Amino acid sequence: MYIGLDLGTSGVRALLVDEDGAPVGAQEAHYQAAHPAPGWSEQDPAMWLDGCRTALAALMAAHPKAYAALRGIAVAGHMHGAVLLDDAGEVLRPCILWNDTRSHAEAAKLDAETSVREISGNIVFPGFTAPKLAWVAAHEPDVFARVAKVVLPKDYVSLWMTGTCASEMSDAAGTAWLDVGARDWSDRLLDAGGMRRNQMPTLFEGTGVIGPMRDALADELGLPRGVQVIAGAADNAAAACGVGALKEGDGFVSLGTSGVVLAARDGFAPDAESAVHTFCHAVPARWYQMGVTLACTDSLNWLARITGQGPAALTAALGDDVRAPGGLRFYPYLSGERTPHNDAQVRGGFSGLDIAHDLPDMTRAVLEGVSFAQADSLLALRATGANPQALLAIGGGAASAHWVQMLANTLNLPLEIPARGEFGAALGAARLAICGVTGADPVQVMAKPEIARTVNPDPSLVAACAEAHQAYRDAYANLKALQ
Ligand code: XUL
Repeated sequence: MYIGLDLGTSGVRALLVDEDGAPVGAQEAHYQAAHPAPGWSEQDPAMWLDGCRTALAALMAAHPKAYAALRGIAVAGHMHGAVLLDDAGEVLRPCILWNDTRSHAEAAKLDAETSVREISGNIVFPGFTAPKLAWVAAHEPDVFARVAKVVLPKDYVSLWMTGTCASEMSDAAGTAWLDVGARDWSDRLLDAGGMRRNQMPTLFEGTGVIGPMRDALADELGLPRGVQVIAGAADNAAAACGVGALKEGDGFVSLGTSGVVLAARDGFAPDAESAVHTFCHAVPARWYQMGVTLACTDSLNWLARITGQGPAALTAALGDDVRAPGGLRFYPYLSGERTPHNDAQVRGGFSGLDIAHDLPDMTRAVLEGVSFAQADSLLALRATGANPQALLAIGGGAASAHWVQMLANTLNLPLEIPARGEFGAALGAARLAICGVTGADPVQVMAKPEIARTVNPDPSLVAACAEAHQAYRDAYANLKALQ
């Protein structure tokens, strides 16, 4: 048996799977992020360890028979966070998280340095790890001077489990210190960021074996001794492993807090200018690319909050009838935008509001606006040569049949809805653990989920959606001019 841990921003999920990768049970523990100043987002890494202790203990208590059969464990986690350790391995300050934008000036400066985009394959976004360290160097020089190692959030959990300071390609790709094509730390990028190679963890592939869990911890957690800890993956790469998106043509659109359109790639084909992320996949010799919409279900949640309705009630009020977009348009830049604008400052809005518009009209416009943003991501992915012919639709927003149909019309692609069940990052991590321990071929282990139904674009609405999408794209410059 194997355990996949998904270390999220709001909690950790521990999933137990059997030898064939079939889910047996799951437990969760929750925690929160602190926002001590506008744009700041931090977590004490000790909270993650407490969450893992709670979730793992509950999992073992619920499945005592798993004890003797447990062979491997791997962690997936939120990307880009900087856990700073001193030479005794002690945490120097709270972890600055992926959604913390305090280092936007440092990010812009690093991004402008010669060959940084070329080697890393990506824009240096404010959320990435390298600019966070530049911010610490400028604002907390005493802390910076004591940094012996920088580890990513899920790698801190693996360090706690094994005593070994390790990372793997998919998460390291989001630091802006990795040569993403060569799958190695880049001395040029480290130098640009004022860092040294000996401050970086040892790199593995996601299926690599870091080593056995420390005996003392295994005893404390009620796990058998000798369980192997596998390197794991960044959350999006792990989610791709969970839905079997490994090779060219595979991909998914995720309607979560932030929205992701992800395409698996057989080669390294960056296009940083389009604000597409090009990262190493969690399995060897593969990459993936994704466009990120920062406020996806967050846009709907915002409308729900200010109108005092639940998001499900808002979408239910639209009924089943999906129409052509009207004149009311929503721009979902509530927290700025990554793809395609790389613009932390832009803010959203409505245009075309009429006295006759009501709340369902506004809900429809919000869903359309987010769908247009995801169509922007798909265009950016296509510019790199990615050309998925269908996408899996996952994430909380995919529960709205109305939204999925609207998105299929807007992307002009069939969207496949998985049958209920487990297919997230925790499953992806568990699958990496299986591959690491058994040496099995990831392509065999990482099967696609059963598809409950396929939502095809409505041919009578595709042209109207494309026209409205173009108008949405044209409006960005005007929106910027107003701010
Ligand atoms: C990816 C990103 C998020 C985090 C948190 O670039 O910032 O997806 O990994 O989930």
